[in-house]
Amino acid sequence: MKVGVEALADAPLLSRAKIEGLRFYPGYLDRGRQEALLAALRDVFAAAPLFTPRMPKSGRPFSVRMSNCGPFGWISDEAGYRYAPTHPVTGRSWPPMPQVLLAAWNELGEYPYPPQACLINFYGPAAKMGLHQDRDEEDFAAPVVSLSLGDACLFRVGGLKRADPSRSFRLSSGDAVVLSGGERLAFHGVDRIYPGTSTLLAEGGRINLTLRRVTRPGNEV
Ligand code: SIN
Ligand code: MN
Repeated sequence: MKVGVEALADAPLLSRAKIEGLRFYPGYLDRGRQEALLAALRDVFAAAPLFTPRMPKSGRPFSVRMSNCGPFGWISDEAGYRYAPTHPVTGRSWPPMPQVLLAAWNELGEYPYPPQACLINFYGPAAKMGLHQDRDEEDFAAPVVSLSLGDACLFRVGGLKRADPSRSFRLSSGDAVVLSGGERLAFHGVDRIYPGTSTLLAEGGRINLTLRRVTRPGNEV
């Protein structure tokens, strides 16, 4: 696998690289901030338990389980992919976004409006996510900011068409990725989890958090 890594001179305080146009920040969250985020996520999961999303039409279950925080959450079932203000099982509003997430958006997002949804994916040892685009949002000018906790995964990123060539690289606990600009609609997915590669989650597994804008600025409900 050949991965082009180009260091960027304009971010001297952050270790930042570009992989196939993606912004990649290895080790963005140090262990202390990973633990703080995990502690905040325990409250999120208490208010909004992980649920198993289902594929549109077929209703086939995803291998990942999900939750959300923020004003909106991303959900999927027979009726399709969409953002919803409430949890599909409990019917309750999603809990607020922890401060660590808002700080990451402010630092990495390069976007002047706050995030409106944070999708939280939990991957057990056999979970994966097929190549897809994030395109349920109104305005692709806003980035998607991704943070990873726990076991490493093999993350795949391609181009703007599903059939475009793709590359894979390892994402580890604390790493951040930003899909923005020309890469905002890049196909991406998770090929596999590497069980036992992190001590952060006592039971193992991987958590990925993606912060998103849902509406165009001015279209807030
Ligand atoms: C996603 O695309 O929703 C998740 C990506 C990841 O798990 O890193
Ligand atoms: Mn995605």
